[in-house]
Amino acid sequence: MSLLFSPLALRDLTLRNRTVIAPMCQYSAQHGLANEWHFVHLGRFALGGFGLVILEATGVLPEARISYGDLGLWDDGQIAPLKRIVDFLHAEGSAAGIQLAHAGRKASTPIAWRNGFDETAQDKLDYAFEAWTPVAPSPIIHTERHPGYTVPREMTVADIAATVQAFAAATSRADQAGFDVVEIHGAHGYLINQFLSPLANKRTDAYGGSRENRMRFGLEVIDAVRAAWPANKPLFIRISATDGVEGGWTVEDSEIFAGEAKARGVDVVHVSSGGFDGASIKPGPLYQVQLARAVRSAGVKTVAVGLISDPADAERILAEGDADLVAFARGALEDPNWAIHAHHILDGAEYDLWPKQARNRIRDKDRVLGLRQ
Ligand SMILES: Cc1cc2nc3c(=O)[nH]c(=O)nc-3n(C[C@H](O)[C@H](O)[C@H](O)COP(=O)(O)O)c2cc1C
Repeated sequence: MSLLFSPLALRDLTLRNRTVIAPMCQYSAQHGLANEWHFVHLGRFALGGFGLVILEATGVLPEARISYGDLGLWDDGQIAPLKRIVDFLHAEGSAAGIQLAHAGRKASTPIAWRNGFDETAQDKLDYAFEAWTPVAPSPIIHTERHPGYTVPREMTVADIAATVQAFAAATSRADQAGFDVVEIHGAHGYLINQFLSPLANKRTDAYGGSRENRMRFGLEVIDAVRAAWPANKPLFIRISATDGVEGGWTVEDSEIFAGEAKARGVDVVHVSSGGFDGASIKPGPLYQVQLARAVRSAGVKTVAVGLISDPADAERILAEGDADLVAFARGALEDPNWAIHAHHILDGAEYDLWPKQARNRIRDKDRVLGLRQ
């Protein structure tokens, strides 16, 4: 059996394999509530054999959302539609994760596929349009080069404490919804990354200045989430291992942060990069794998992600110790059955990942055609 399709135990959770669906914003919620779109979009990855399906960046407060269409978990009423999705993922053999997020100064931006804020009055009613002034460590706009961003309001120490508590409260709701994994979103130039990076954090209080001070908010979030999350469930954090901008957060910083995160009960670091304007990071096949390897040197488990599409590459990432799990976003949109197909490629005539409704029919077809024997 390949490593990719061997189970992995994390605290009391055993993943059926080491393939992960990376969080993907759908901008398709109203008032933060999951709906039929999310149910079908996510459900097909469980039918497709993935080990862990991580739901999109989910706002811990209304103003934490990237757009008015994001999922939210700031209210108890948002638990039930998420639980329905979690129950389906479980029934089909996948573990369920949720990425808890605060966008900071990158909040209240247009829906990705619209042409800016082009909603008509009717659209605003139909899609529950909302816009607000974002908050951030410092009152510095994300960028002037692209429209859609707003100068944020600088967070007070009381705002910071309330935000940490919002992460904890959302974590309790995630537990009530039945999630197996919480992933804290610390990447892509969003709020935690804004505190970490000298590019966005110009504070002169205990939350800015030295690396220790810039890490304080992220580590407080970790402590609060870990305290609210059952001890038998694993905790992930996603980071941008480097901002890819001169004077920004570096891989060396990430190794230190990952060590601190591990000491506070983080089990897995999901290693991405970028999120600030002007980043020099050039995407290409496997471009972030070496970052996962670097962070793993801090002694923490990692997820590798970013233009991984060949099953042999995914297997090699695990075999060579670059990462412990391998995540997929766009490749899984293209082929929601990627995990099943990769299992056949790596392990031959193994039909266990097919849903029972399809399994024997596919095997019969393969036998007639002389495939995968
Ligand atoms: C449609 C879409 C939505 C995304 N939304 C999120 C998100 O909510 N949170 C996050 O951390 N990354 C998000 N990402 C980034 C992906 O999780 C992933 O890291 C990135 O696409 C690289 O992986 P890939 O090459 O397999 O697509 C998104 C990517 C896509 C394509």
